[in-house]
Amino acid sequence: MSLLIEQDRSGYHTRLPTLADVKDTERVRRLQNTLIGILQQRPMSVAEWMQYLLHSPDGYYANRGIRKDFYTPSELFPGIADCYESHVRSVWDQLGRPSFFPIYELGPGNGTFAAAFLTVASKDHDFHKAVEYHLVEQSPLLVKRQKQLLQQLPSSLSKVTWHEADLTNFPFPHLSTGAVISFELHDSLPHRVVVKRKGKLMEVFICIRNNQIEEIEGSPEEETSKYLAKYPEWVDSLPEGRHIPQNILGLKLQEKLAQRLQNGTIVTVDYGYQLPYVPRNPFRWMSECEQVYYGDNFLPLWIILAGLADNSCLVDFSLLGLPTGRAGFSQVLVEQRNFLERFGIKDTVTRYARELVARNTANQQRDSNSLQLFFKNIDNLLRAAPDWLVFTETKGVNAILPRYPYFPNDWHCDLAANYIGSPI
Ligand SMILES: C[S@@+](CC[C@H](N)C(=O)[O-])C[C@H]1O[C@@H](n2cnc3c(N)ncnc32)[C@H](O)[C@@H]1O
Repeated sequence: MSLLIEQDRSGYHTRLPTLADVKDTERVRRLQNTLIGILQQRPMSVAEWMQYLLHSPDGYYANRGIRKDFYTPSELFPGIADCYESHVRSVWDQLGRPSFFPIYELGPGNGTFAAAFLTVASKDHDFHKAVEYHLVEQSPLLVKRQKQLLQQLPSSLSKVTWHEADLTNFPFPHLSTGAVISFELHDSLPHRVVVKRKGKLMEVFICIRNNQIEEIEGSPEEETSKYLAKYPEWVDSLPEGRHIPQNILGLKLQEKLAQRLQNGTIVTVDYGYQLPYVPRNPFRWMSECEQVYYGDNFLPLWIILAGLADNSCLVDFSLLGLPTGRAGFSQVLVEQRNFLERFGIKDTVTRYARELVARNTANQQRDSNSLQLFFKNIDNLLRAAPDWLVFTETKGVNAILPRYPYFPNDWHCDLAANYIGSPI
């Protein structure tokens, strides 16, 4: 048997990827055979499935670079680092400008944000001197890319320490005062999936039955139950009959940060939502993930695209904020474009655009292309889906951000009808 798409009836995709889209067809076949081999023995939790798809040696991240499947904020416009640096520096300032201020970036990808952050931080001598920048990254391929990029910034390199590690087990030494920042990390962590049926919580598993892949619901595994019992307020708020991702690794990370960080900030930037709003489909492949026809079933596209594309779950910020909320962090969730505007993104864009024009090379066509690309990226960044959110959590300082209403009115009008299920 194979995991190949038979028919897309979602109407959402003009064309779905096929094996012909990847250079390393062998890798995808190997990954799919491994998954099928396991499923022939036993069902798998969704988290185990995602772990194979994304983080195994034949998975997406170990081989990233095959396709560019998604935009992340700093890859679109590294200038966003100016805004995030302003936030982190103002926390440092309010804490009395400590002479040692560790910043942990989790899952730094190509290192683009780190390079831009350290460049802008170097404009404030005292802050730059205090900063110790830590990169926590599990992919050796990406660590290599980060080193290549940051080596071009000799003055900042001495400020950077690499931790080639799985951050969900990372101890965060020396982090009683400091900052933690991540971009699009949580959506790539393996999630379990639960569903409430007549008030009872079930877990969703993937299995093979009658030679076909299917989803089944069963009693939650021990780890799932443990976290359901720990956070009963989340369980109470779950809607009946909807498949809801449960980010247990993200919770473990937040529990550790809640314990360690006594003064400072955690900044989490990701696509997501907050209960009671539940997206129509919280599982994503290139921001949409619909059911496709497979054998006699409809199955989520991300199951059928195993190994062909990135896949992820939208981040449920209502769950993610529970450990830190209990530990007394003040929390603000805003659309990323609001956050960036609050921290002066428009001035930054103008400055970068002027610099681009001032470079004024002899090749006018190339200059015009790079300006066009620049503005296209900015447009994507500032007008991108309003579920691109920034979650700031602070402790030991006054809240830095004004309390925006979560999901301003125009958000509902623009996309709610299209994207989000009705409030429960
Ligand atoms: C979607 S990419 C985002 C990269 C980058 N932050 C950006 O915005 O472009 C997710 C990143 O998290 C890393 N990552 C995922 N799970 C991890 C884990 N358990 N431990 C360490 N790094 C992890 C991936 O290798 C990758 O660098």
